[in-house]
Amino acid sequence: MAEQGLPEGFKKGLEDIIAAESKICKIDGQNGKLYYRGYRIEDLAEHCTYEETCYLLLYGKLPTKKELKEYTKMLASMRNVPKYVVKILKETVHKTTAMEALRTAVSALAGGDEDVKDVKTDYHIAIGNSLIAKFPTLVAYYHRLNSGQKIIKPKKSLGYAANFLYMVNGKIPSKEEARAIDVDFILHAEHGFNASTFAVRITISTLSDMYSAMTTGIGVLKGPLHGGAAEAVFGQLKQIGSVENVEPFVKNVLAKHDKMMGIGHRVYKTYDPRARVLEKEARKFSEGKKSDMKWYRIAEKISQVMQREKNLYPNVDFFSAIVYDELGLPLELDSTIFAIARSAGWVAHALEQYEDNRLIRPLEYYTGPIDLKFVPIGERK
Ligand code: COA
Repeated sequence: MAEQGLPEGFKKGLEDIIAAESKICKIDGQNGKLYYRGYRIEDLAEHCTYEETCYLLLYGKLPTKKELKEYTKMLASMRNVPKYVVKILKETVHKTTAMEALRTAVSALAGGDEDVKDVKTDYHIAIGNSLIAKFPTLVAYYHRLNSGQKIIKPKKSLGYAANFLYMVNGKIPSKEEARAIDVDFILHAEHGFNASTFAVRITISTLSDMYSAMTTGIGVLKGPLHGGAAEAVFGQLKQIGSVENVEPFVKNVLAKHDKMMGIGHRVYKTYDPRARVLEKEARKFSEGKKSDMKWYRIAEKISQVMQREKNLYPNVDFFSAIVYDELGLPLELDSTIFAIARSAGWVAHALEQYEDNRLIRPLEYYTGPIDLKFVPIGERK
C-alpha cells in the first residue's frame, strides 16, 4: 500500500523493500533470531572461529578440518600490507580518524596488492580474502602510529583475533582475551541488507571492483546511524558513572526525546540475539577485571530500565563496548573493529552480487518544478 499522496511503491529509506534474493543471512526480527547460511548465530559464536565464519559466509558451507586449516593459514599469510600503504598511513594519521584512515588505505591497496597480483581465476574471492586479512593490520597500524608507537608486524602463528589484539596492544593476548574478540567478530560479521552491505552491492552491480566496494562499505558504515553506536554507548556509560545514576539519567534522556545509545533496532522487535551473546561475554569478561563489573552493572541497569519504560532492548553495540574496554582497545577504534568484522559479510555479498548481477538502479519521486523558462546567464538575478 502506498503512503498517502505518494506513488505506488514509494518507501522512504527503502523501508520494507526487498531489493534482491540472498542465501547469506536470515534475520527474524520478530523472534530475535539470526542465521548465517542457515546456521544459528548462537551456535557459530559458541563453536566457530572468525576464520571459520568467514569461510562459511564466502564459500557457503562450513569447512572441514583440513579446509579450515588451509584457509586460516592462507589468511594469515596475507596480513602484510605494502610499504607504500604504510607510508600513506604515516603521512595522514594525525589528520584522519581511524575510519577515514582505513577507507583511504583500503582504496590505496588496489593495484599494489602482491597477494592477488598473479591470481587469474577466482580473482574477486582472492581480493576479498586478501582484504579480510589486511583490515586488522591497517587498523592496528593506524592506532600504533597515531599514538606515537612503533607498528607491530602481524604474527602468522596467531589466529585472526589474537593477532589483531597483539598488533594493537603489543602483547600476546590470553586465550580468553582472544576468544572474546573472536566472538565479537563472529557476531558482527554479517547482517543482511544493512546500509553498508547494500552500498557494497550497489558498487558491485556496476561491475566495479572489490576494492571500490569495500571502500564504499567503510564510508557507509562510518556514519553515526550505522557503525558508530558502540563508541557512543561507552560515552554514555562514562557520563552515568554509577548504577544509582541510571534511573535519573534515562528518565532525563526520555523526557528530552533523546536516545539511549545501543538500545533499539529497526528490525529486531525483541532482544537482538547478538546482544544476548555479548551480554554473557561482557559479564564473564568483566568479573574480577579492570572495571570490576562497573560498566557491566550500569549497562545491565540501563537495559532493565529501557525495557520497563519503552519496551526497548539492547542491540549488538550495547555490550560490545564493555568488552573492547576490558581488552584495552581504545574507544576511537570501535567503528573500525566493526568494519574488520563486517568485511566478511561485505565480501560474501559482493560475490553473490557478481554471480547474479543486475544493475541496482531505483527511481526517484521527483517533486521539483518542470518546464521552467531558461534564463541566459547575463540576465539572471
Ligand atoms: N532510546 C530512547 N528511545 C528510543 C530509542 C533509544 N535508543 N530507540 C527508539 N526509541 C524510541 C523512539 O524515541 C520512538 O519513541 P516514540 O514512539 O515514543 O516517539 C520509538 O522508540 C521508535 O523509535 P524509532 O527511532 O522510530 O525507531 P527506528 O526503528 O527508526 O530506529 C534505531 C532504530 C536503532 C535507529 C533507534 O533505536 C536508535 O536510534 N537507537 C540508538 C542508536 C543505536 O544504538 N544504533 C545502533 C543500531 S544497531
